[in-house]
Amino acid sequence: MWAKKAILYVCLLTGVAMALALAGQSSGQSSTTATEAPSGYDNQPNGLTDLASFNMDRGQFEQTEFIGDGLGPIFNAQSCRECHQNPVTGSTSQIKELRAGHQDAFGNFVGATATLADGTVTITNRSLINQRAICPAVDTITVNGVSQTYNFPQTQGQERISTAETIRAFRMSLNTLGDGFIESIADQTLLNLASSQCSNTGGLICGETVRVPVLEASGALAVGRFGWKNQHASLLSFSSDAYLNEMGVSNRLPPNNVDVTRICDVIPDPNNNTTDSQGLQDIDRFARFMRATKVPPRDTALAISSDGVAGASLFQTQEPSSCPLLSATCWFIHTATSSCTTSARVTASCKPAVRKQPQNCARLLFGEYARARNCCTTAAQTPSLTPFNGTATKHNP
Ligand code: HEC
Repeated sequence: MWAKKAILYVCLLTGVAMALALAGQSSGQSSTTATEAPSGYDNQPNGLTDLASFNMDRGQFEQTEFIGDGLGPIFNAQSCRECHQNPVTGSTSQIKELRAGHQDAFGNFVGATATLADGTVTITNRSLINQRAICPAVDTITVNGVSQTYNFPQTQGQERISTAETIRAFRMSLNTLGDGFIESIADQTLLNLASSQCSNTGGLICGETVRVPVLEASGALAVGRFGWKNQHASLLSFSSDAYLNEMGVSNRLPPNNVDVTRICDVIPDPNNNTTDSQGLQDIDRFARFMRATKVPPRDTALAISSDGVAGASLFQTQEPSSCPLLSATCWFIHTATSSCTTSARVTASCKPAVRKQPQNCARLLFGEYARARNCCTTAAQTPSLTPFNGTATKHNP
C-alpha cells in the first residue's frame, strides 16, 4: 500500500518538475505533460498518504509539547501549528521570529551572543533569539508517564542580547503547504533555471543558488529551497531544525540532537528519541505531514476581478525597478503558462509577491516561483523572455 502510493507521488511530482524544467528553458519550448498539483485548504492529503495516516501526522504537527516532552529550555512556541496554521494546519501565521547579530571588522555577519541567568550563562554566535523559556518555574511535569517535580523558582532562562547586536530583523512564518512538491524538484532543475535566466536576460537577472547540508544524508549538500535564506533542502532536515530551534526539542539528527543550553534542563538529549509502532519519530511525522499536503488554492474570483487584472498590469510595469528578480519570477510565470487568461494568471502567480523585500528575491525565484507555478493549470508553452529595464539588485544570502 505504502509503496504504491509512493510511486504515484513520484510520478505526479515528475510532472511538476518537468514543467518547471521546461519553464526554465529558453524560448520556443512547449509541453503538455504537466499535471497540476492537487490544491485546496481542505485538510486532505495530496495522495502521498491515506487520510488516516495524514490525520495522525497532522496530529503530531499540532501537538502541544510540555517540559516533560523536552520543550525548551528556550523556545518560541509549543507546537508547529502555533506558527503554521492560517487558515489550516501547515500554512502560515502572523508570528515572526527575532534574529540578531552584528558585523565583525571585516564586514561579516556574526550571530548574537545571548546571556541568560542574570548574565552568568552565555550562548554565542546564534542569530535566532528565542523569546520564551521554561524557567523560572515550579511545576509538576510528566516524563515518560511518570510525575516529577520541576523546581527552578529562581533560574532566569529568558535570553537577553546587548546593544552591541546592532543587526536585528524579524522573519515571518512561512507556509509549508505543498512543500513536498518543492522538495521533489531536482537540484539540476533549479541550477538550470538560475543559469538560463541569467543568459536569457543578458546577465541582468541571475538567480543564485546555495548548497546546504541534508542532515539525514550525513550532511551531503543539495540546493537549498526552504526558509527565507534557502537554508534547507529537505523537509526532514527542516523538521529537525525547527523542533530544536523553535520548540527546544532535541532530536536524532545532528546538530539538532542537543539542546542549545543546559539551564533548567531536565530531559536527556535527544529529547525526542522514541519510535512509534510505525517506526516513526516526531520529526518523521512532521515531514510526512508536510509532504502530503496540497498546494494552496488560487483565489480565482479575485484573480479575474477588474481590480485583480488592473493590479497584475500595474505590478508588471512598476515592480521591475524595485525588485527585478521578483518581477522576473511573476513575469516568467505569465509568459510560460497558457491555460488561464493572461491577467488572471499573473495575478494569481504574483500572490506570494506580498513579500517584497529585495533580499528575498532569490527565495521567490526558487521557492515561490515553483510554488506559484503550480497555480496555473497544465503545461509550459512558448516562454519568450526579454530583459527588464530595471536595475538588478544583488541578493545577499
Ligand atoms: C515560533 C513559530 C514557529 C514554530 C513553532 C515553527 N515554525 Fe516553522 N517557520 C517559522 C518561521 C518564522 C519560518 C521562516 C524561518 C526562516 O527562514 O528564518 C518557518 C519556516 C518553516 C519551514 C520552511 C517553509 C518553506 O516553504 O520555506 C518549514 C518546512 C517549517 N517551518 C516547518 C516547521 C515544523 C515542522 C515545525 C515544528 C517542529 C515548525 N516549523 C515550527 C515559524 C515557526
